Amino acid sequence: MMAVFYKSTRFLGCCDSRMTMRYKLLGRTGLRVSELCLGAMTFGDDWGWGAPKEECAAIVDAFGEAGGNFIDTANYYTGGSSERIVGELIASEREHWVLSTKYTLNMHPGDPNGGGAHRKSMVQALDASLKRLGTEYIDVYWVHIWDPHTPVEELIRALDDVVRTGKVLYVGISDTPAWIVSQAITLADLLGWTRFAGLQIPYSLLDRTVERELLPMAQALELTVAAWGPLGGGLLTGRYGTDRDRPEDTRIAATGAHGESQLTERRLEIADAVNAVAAERGASPSQVAIAWVRSQQARGVIVPIVGARRRGQLEDTLGALTIELTLDELDRLEQLTRIELGFPHDFGAGARLVDGDNGSLIDDRRLARATA
Ligand SMILES: NC(=O)c1ccc[n+]([C@@H]2O[C@H](COP(=O)([O-])OP(=O)(O)OC[C@H]3O[C@@H](n4cnc5c(N)ncnc54)[C@H](OP(=O)(O)O)[C@@H]3O)[C@@H](O)[C@H]2O)c1
Repeated sequence: MMAVFYKSTRFLGCCDSRMTMRYKLLGRTGLRVSELCLGAMTFGDDWGWGAPKEECAAIVDAFGEAGGNFIDTANYYTGGSSERIVGELIASEREHWVLSTKYTLNMHPGDPNGGGAHRKSMVQALDASLKRLGTEYIDVYWVHIWDPHTPVEELIRALDDVVRTGKVLYVGISDTPAWIVSQAITLADLLGWTRFAGLQIPYSLLDRTVERELLPMAQALELTVAAWGPLGGGLLTGRYGTDRDRPEDTRIAATGAHGESQLTERRLEIADAVNAVAAERGASPSQVAIAWVRSQQARGVIVPIVGARRRGQLEDTLGALTIELTLDELDRLEQLTRIELGFPHDFGAGARLVDGDNGSLIDDRRLARATA
């Protein structure tokens, strides 16, 4: 029997007819993931700023209709509601979806083993996620946050074991220093264990610090980058700017002091620049912000994880697939948001000390790719 395509409605048209979702290979594997991933942190209203189940259903439908197949949740999101909702919504076409979830955040704060990256936490968290998701396997299982107490050997061996049980197909790691990820991958490669296929990190015009170590590492080690917070949690959506009143019905407003801390002068100026580029080219600010992340493919294979609280927001954001920023637009955004790479990247004398007078005579395809 032919495989069922997403409710057979893929091109029924939630979106712009020029929009084509393409697919990328996850890390050094053959798994095809859509070039945008749908984030489900907003699924469930348990935290006071998410979406009820009916709206989540509409969001998943819009994403599936546009050709999206990659969905991201975590055991921690909305206290488990996100996983339950995602599981129910994709159940009828489970095999079609690339379902990813995460573990390590503490689900039982009174219990010292209620979180962490260690084997006990992993095995228990995985079984609990499978139950909430109502599935027998996770496509991509992420280490959510670095756990400094768990040795890297324990982590990758235990991940390899859960892959061998068939409960997990691929593994990834999120929010972890580059040296630890590199060490884990080196050991996995040497020992023939499952290597990470993905790296999940924050990346947006507001936060480019991952350009120092994490993005170059991902490129060198062939990790697909799932970029979270590409809209700055809502800051780059046209609702914020130095010239705008603070809107009320937003996640940033709902998260009180934390949300307020996001609204620094510099970040609002970046929002201004995004708003201006969007207005000039007749796009929405969200589309411009996502288009910028997508434009950074020379730095690695980058898949923005797009979050939405309403179907209309996601439909708008999906319009980014039709946008290619001009060199002039990229340059304007670059001037405002570029970061200092710091030592040793900007140790200017280093190259001359190594190459002598021959630097410009050496063709290095690897370096050309990494610094493109
Ligand atoms: N690994 C990690 O540590 C980590 C951390 C954070 C997130 N993530 C993952 O990344 C995903 C995305 O993160 P995020 O939600 O912070 O991403 P985001 O894309 O930066 O922000 C999404 C928020 O922006 C607003 N929005 C989205 N589209 C809009 C539009 N077209 N017009 C107006 N407003 C719009 C909504 O906020 P309002 O609610 O204000 O309307 C929405 O909740 C999460 O769902 C999760 O899967 C991972």
